[in-house]
Amino acid sequence: MQRLLLFLLCACTQAITTAAAIVPGKAFERFITIWLENQDFAKVVVDSSMVDLKREGIMLTRYYAQTHPSQPNYLAAVAGDYFGLNHDDWVRIPENVATIADLLEDKDVSWGGYFEDMPSPGYMGNYSDGSTGNGGWDYVRKHSPFVSFDSVTAHGERLLNLDSFRAFHRDFAAKSLPQFVFMSPNMMNDGHNTTLSTATDWSREFLRPLLADGAFPERTLIALTYDESEDYAQPNHIVTLLLGSAVPPSLKGTTDDTFYTHYSILATLQANWGLHHLGRYDVGANVFGFVADAAGYQGNREPEGASAVNNSVSYPGLLHEDPDQRTAIPVPNLYLKGAGGLGVLPWIEAAWSGAKKMQTPYDGSGRVWDGDNPPVYGPPTRRTV
Ligand SMILES: *[C@@H]1O[C@H](CO)[C@@H](O)[C@H](O)[C@H]1NC(C)=O
Ligand SMILES: *[C@@H]1O[C@H](CO)[C@@H](O)[C@H](O)[C@H]1NC(C)=O
Ligand SMILES: *[C@@H]1O[C@H](CO)[C@@H](O)[C@H](O)[C@H]1NC(C)=O
Repeated sequence: MQRLLLFLLCACTQAITTAAAIVPGKAFERFITIWLENQDFAKVVVDSSMVDLKREGIMLTRYYAQTHPSQPNYLAAVAGDYFGLNHDDWVRIPENVATIADLLEDKDVSWGGYFEDMPSPGYMGNYSDGSTGNGGWDYVRKHSPFVSFDSVTAHGERLLNLDSFRAFHRDFAAKSLPQFVFMSPNMMNDGHNTTLSTATDWSREFLRPLLADGAFPERTLIALTYDESEDYAQPNHIVTLLLGSAVPPSLKGTTDDTFYTHYSILATLQANWGLHHLGRYDVGANVFGFVADAAGYQGNREPEGASAVNNSVSYPGLLHEDPDQRTAIPVPNLYLKGAGGLGVLPWIEAAWSGAKKMQTPYDGSGRVWDGDNPPVYGPPTRRTV
């Protein structure tokens, strides 16, 4: 009898451990990033819902988007470059371009994306009417970055990691959310087709259960951000707010004035979980301050040219709509060490080994480029600045 009980107990524990398989991080066990649309820093910081939320988190005061319009910013945050993209139309990126999904899976960290009004898991269409659209577009492909990468869509099980907000609510209730979560509300709730306060009010309400005591069994960091600023004539300065149980209580209501961009999301995940890197602009991007401290990462710095950052227009690349500005996808730099303390992901190195000596714009310096200040290529062994 005792033996049977012991056996049952063991079997049970094992099942639970397998289901929960949470990979511990230096500062958090879960990262959720939620993307709102098109607002300038100066307008968002004074909004009343944002002021409420700010008391519970760390406001990043020098965070810049990569370019305009929306879509390249979403792609940049998961792939470490936007490959010259300067429009919101359908794009497809070849299979030898990796994303954060590859880095996470390599270390067994689960990941997923939830997109409001996505009509079915893994949907690859351009748009879909949903819960609030009145016949307009609610779900839009341009706000759903993973579906544009062949390295995701060519693997059915990855494509199925992309689902709707209904699935988010189900997984949140079951305490089974993946450890990395990318979320885009629909075109109304993200503010795109509505107003600044519609999106911030929505955010405050949406976040309430996620910020409640005990909402998640694991330390959870929530990065509420914008894809880009509204005013294309001003530098692309946006609000990003760090929230959730992973934020140290002593830092709630404070600001962090370090220079960040969407590439900082990648560097922060790498530092937290000791991930490999993509060999692109993820290397050298600053890691969110309190995460850098927890991870003992000392690479944060003010990149050259940061005071003149504009990021308002896309540099040349494969996805540029002007044929005269189309260039090949740059070779990842296979020689750098990233914020996770490791080199480039082994399969990236294998996929690009034939081109490993080619000139590349990725030098690990954290410098940002845009169309008015295009990337400078150099030999890949360049040291960081
Ligand atoms: C999405 O848009 C692209 C480009 O306009 C078009 O070629 C494609 O057929 C569209 N896809 C669907 C499923 O409508
Ligand atoms: C949102 O705006 C786009 C144009 O930018 C329009 O085509 C679409 O119908 C609008 N959607 C909603 C839900 O209002
Ligand atoms: C930023 O770049 C855009 C596009 O080239 C330009 O119109 C704008 O004047 C620039 N803004 C600043 C502050 O330099």
